Amino acid sequence: MRTIYFDNGATTAPDPLVIEEMVRYLTDYYGNPSSGHQVGREARAGVELARQRVAAALGAKPQEIVFTSGGSEADYLAIRGTVKALGRQQGHIIISAFEHHAVLDTCLALEREGFIITLAEIGEDGIIDPGVVEREMRPETFLLSVMHANNEIGTVQPVREIAVLAHKHGIVAHTDAVQSFGKIPVDVNELGVDLLTVSSHKIHGPKGAGALYIREGTPWEPINFGGGQEATRRPGTENVPGVVGLGAAAEMAVRRLEEDAERVRLLRERLVDGVLNGISGSSLNGDRVRRIPGNVHFSFKGVPSRDLLAELDQRGICASGASACSSGACTASHVLTAIGLPLALALSAVRFTLSKDNTLDEVDFTLEALCEVVGRIRRENPR
Ligand SMILES: Cc1ncc(COP(=O)(O)O)c(C=O)c1O
Repeated sequence: MRTIYFDNGATTAPDPLVIEEMVRYLTDYYGNPSSGHQVGREARAGVELARQRVAAALGAKPQEIVFTSGGSEADYLAIRGTVKALGRQQGHIIISAFEHHAVLDTCLALEREGFIITLAEIGEDGIIDPGVVEREMRPETFLLSVMHANNEIGTVQPVREIAVLAHKHGIVAHTDAVQSFGKIPVDVNELGVDLLTVSSHKIHGPKGAGALYIREGTPWEPINFGGGQEATRRPGTENVPGVVGLGAAAEMAVRRLEEDAERVRLLRERLVDGVLNGISGSSLNGDRVRRIPGNVHFSFKGVPSRDLLAELDQRGICASGASACSSGACTASHVLTAIGLPLALALSAVRFTLSKDNTLDEVDFTLEALCEVVGRIRRENPR
């Protein structure tokens, strides 16, 4: 059975060129970058080249890049490091209502410690209004985190406008760019943010590697201790192959961005047109235009997403859904709740996330499968 992988929002296949670069750091250049001898220096050179590549991809300076174990750790460090540097025991933080759990749960933990957290409202189109964010700002607000592109519905947020407003009110601005980096332009100066998160495995790099951009002069302090690595900002012997893979993937993604984005966008549009025109009771969640090129998020009225995903899986098509069911009761994801999607539509939502590796033929095969499976599930479960 052929496999059609449409879950690139969860992770991507590492690119052969990335793997090739990484392998050298598992074989020949296996040194500890902190060692002063030749073998260590080779590993150090790999880490520093990766830092330059990630910085260049983001329009940042190499010294503003801190390597982490991925997007989740970078989000955590961004928030906790700012709280620490500002010496805060309490205060107000604004995040969007549909942040990734790495941001959301870090902030909910702070709430339990006495901080006040506002979850700023999202529009039905999956886009946050900067005016709404500004209305939530208070004299005690010190940090704001609004993601660049949402991981479920792919909508792109007006981060630049929000960062301008944050700075007008003396607030530090962070954005989680895990889903946008390498897919649409992500430039720290264009966006004007103080802190920004990226992850390697969403851009055809390895899992377990990511980076936090920290603009020079941003109030930020390390929260972990134990070694001088990453200029004492993040201790621990570096994940050299992972970091090298991130650097290679970032360089490749940005170099190929325009070409890949256009190709992936055309595939996406074919899938969207095919579904909306060919399957009654289907709808697209999130703004059709202001979304990352590879994200498609549908609801199929009356079709439980878990049934649809299982049927697609049997045909080798990998997609995803975000509802959670236990003891027969199902809840919608916080993202779909945040955009006000009715529960019935949220529980029938399926995400397809495309990448440069997908083809037109895969889209057409999936369209055919969707028409057949959606029709059959509806016939078998008449409502
Ligand atoms: C928006 C967003 N932020 C953070 C993360 C976490 O990144 P990582 O898997 O590298 O920890 C993800 C992963 O799905 C994500 O989509």
